[in-house]
Amino acid sequence: VEAVQKQVSELVTHTRYLHESILAYSEDLLGTLPDHLDNIMYTCTGSEANDLAMRIAKQFTGGTGVIVTAEAYHGITTETGAISPSLGGRESVTPWAQVVAAPDSYRGTAPFVDGVAQALANFARDGITPAALIVDTIYSADGILTPDPTDITAAGQLVRAAGGLLIADEVQSGFGRLGRMWGFEGSGLDPDIVTTGKPMGSGQPIASVIARHEIVDAFGAKMRYFSTFAGNPVGIAAAQATLDVLRDDELVENAHEVGKYLQAGLRSMQTRHRQIGDIRGAGLFVGIDLVADPETKKPIGDYAFDIVNAMRERRVLVSAVGAGRNVLKVRPPLPFTRSDSDRFLEVLDSSLTDLAPHEDRS
Ligand SMILES: Cc1ncc(COP(=O)(O)O)c(C=O)c1O
Repeated sequence: VEAVQKQVSELVTHTRYLHESILAYSEDLLGTLPDHLDNIMYTCTGSEANDLAMRIAKQFTGGTGVIVTAEAYHGITTETGAISPSLGGRESVTPWAQVVAAPDSYRGTAPFVDGVAQALANFARDGITPAALIVDTIYSADGILTPDPTDITAAGQLVRAAGGLLIADEVQSGFGRLGRMWGFEGSGLDPDIVTTGKPMGSGQPIASVIARHEIVDAFGAKMRYFSTFAGNPVGIAAAQATLDVLRDDELVENAHEVGKYLQAGLRSMQTRHRQIGDIRGAGLFVGIDLVADPETKKPIGDYAFDIVNAMRERRVLVSAVGAGRNVLKVRPPLPFTRSDSDRFLEVLDSSLTDLAPHEDRS
């Protein structure tokens, strides 16, 4: 708050005029990423970041084909809405995109690499040149998944071999929430492009596209990019302060530690509530998969909705995601403590006890 107030009182402009802070922040942020991800471009929203990433990937590869997961959400622009099946269903997805089942180890879908191989075969059949595979690295809208990294690596290798780029959408998973700075770390995905947003400015609209310089150079040689408010000094002040607090307060480590504690608490509760089919996630991004029966693993979406509301009445906010809308999405603030977790567990426990699932729920 202080950083934003100070900047507002000094100078609020757009990005036509250079400002020292944007350079310092860019270097600071790029220092948290692998060396080859060495260029950054700013946008105001995650949607714009993914939109720009799409344009860059298409221009760089000369292709148009994009592979996405079955419940993915990547934004609201024409370009990103067209690759977001969670918005309007599979039918709403553009013909130049292929939709692949997300790698769900709980319900045991086919390996992700098989779906990606099929998608690439479909592109070849339809005369579409692949441009990119884009994944949210915690598969949030798909139900919060932590797949086998070797499966994701194999899928990425196929896309690369077919000439496509790999895009990590870190709008939800980036900035330490998973108990590591970036979601793609250790996930098996080796991205050419990373997109960020949401937590980047702790409430200020700032987002970015980060890529290897040869990709950005090739794009910049042919295409102009400018966005009036993207990377403005106030947004940058918020982003810099966010990064400073993440480090000073060791919030990434906190997400890892408290996340483990929260998941352990949930697991001990699982024995008392048959409707908890699976607990998964990383750091402070946890999914609780509610099922009619742990044997059949049948999702109970309307029940999850009732639990969301029961918890809201007890002043704890969660939402429900996944194809069956039955996975409670637990995504608390990063300074979450063990005692906050205890309160969360109590409220969930009492909500599940008070609201036993009916036999006929589906
Ligand atoms: C994974 C993911 N990508 C992109 C977006 C779009 O970001 P924004 O709402 O800032 O446009 C979101 C927003 O929820 C998201 O969760």
